[in-house]
Amino acid sequence: MKQPFEIKTGWPLDTGGVARFLDRNFDFDQMTTGLLEEKLFEDPMADPGLCFSAYHNETLVGFLYAVRRDIRGEAFGYVKLMAVEHDYRRKGIGTAMYRAAEESLVSRGATKIRIYDVPLNYFMPGIDPRYTPALCMVWKLGFKQFGESVNMVADLEASDWSTEKEEQMLLAKGIEVRRATKEDKNELFSLLAEEWLLWQNEAGMALKNDPPSAHIALKNGRIKAFSLHNANNKGTGWFGPMGTHADLRGLGMGSLLLKRCLKDMQEEGHRTAIIPWVAPVAFYAHYVGARVERVFWRNEKEVLLGK
Ligand SMILES: CC(C)(COP(=O)(O)OP(=O)(O)OC[C@H]1O[C@@H](n2cnc3c(N)ncnc32)[C@H](O)[C@@H]1OP(=O)(O)O)[C@@H](O)C(=O)NCCC(=O)NCCS
Repeated sequence: MKQPFEIKTGWPLDTGGVARFLDRNFDFDQMTTGLLEEKLFEDPMADPGLCFSAYHNETLVGFLYAVRRDIRGEAFGYVKLMAVEHDYRRKGIGTAMYRAAEESLVSRGATKIRIYDVPLNYFMPGIDPRYTPALCMVWKLGFKQFGESVNMVADLEASDWSTEKEEQMLLAKGIEVRRATKEDKNELFSLLAEEWLLWQNEAGMALKNDPPSAHIALKNGRIKAFSLHNANNKGTGWFGPMGTHADLRGLGMGSLLLKRCLKDMQEEGHRTAIIPWVAPVAFYAHYVGARVERVFWRNEKEVLLGK
């Protein structure tokens, strides 16, 4: 490069241009303007001071977006999106953007940084190891792999996902299943506060959809289980999260609520449903024939305050 590159901080003026840039530079993912705007602006802690664009002769050649979160008493920074234009790789642009992000995250109190696996609003739950240069880069920068996550996929054409019989059986046990409404928000949020506080953001996103992309099971008028879709990565056929209160597990509420979401997604025209960042692989494999489709490696770096 004859001219050095320049890194600018702040929201991009042309999100369509950045979305096309990311789409062309992500070999295993797609990006659209709508999805990028969700990742940037609908983040509950959206911060333009953590959005970095690299330019060479006024052409966008790199983009990195990070966010700060306090999670279970720890001060995290997360890189949510990162790419460098193919022809400009291996010239230090990725490293320069990361270093700018790390400095800003540390100045905002972060003590640990992770790559991509951002609770509340994320693109992918870690680095897909096929993005091998990204792994090489973060390891060179001092990150260590600490875990793995997987996305599963369910074939929505494999069934009509009707649940009437199961719903009748649950009704006989005093359990009502229905689509959530905006009025259910407080009650759903208090169930989430007991065990799944981090999922309140996605629940809020699902309730904002018309109709709400959330289903609930109630016993004695109280919400005891829920499932959501189209809350994160909107428009991509993204399921989850879902949960059943510990007292009422094993009655079939979870699989029923899962199928109600898959039916919605099928009716919206999706052919597959992505079941992301999965823990109970066997549950989804058994009830809806889902299979592991992608693996992600989770990486973390400790950063010292005031460094
Ligand atoms: C990951 C990515 C952003 C790196 O950007 P970059 O500007 O090429 O990175 P740098 O030039 O700063 O490279 C830093 C170091 O990473 C390592 N690295 C980067 N690319 C590498 C490659 N292809 N093979 C081996 N090591 C590599 C090297 O150690 C390199 O330092 P060096 O060139 O001095 O040896 C870029 O490859 C990219 O956009 N990939 C596609 C999108 C992506 O993977 N996003 C993240 C998904 S989780």
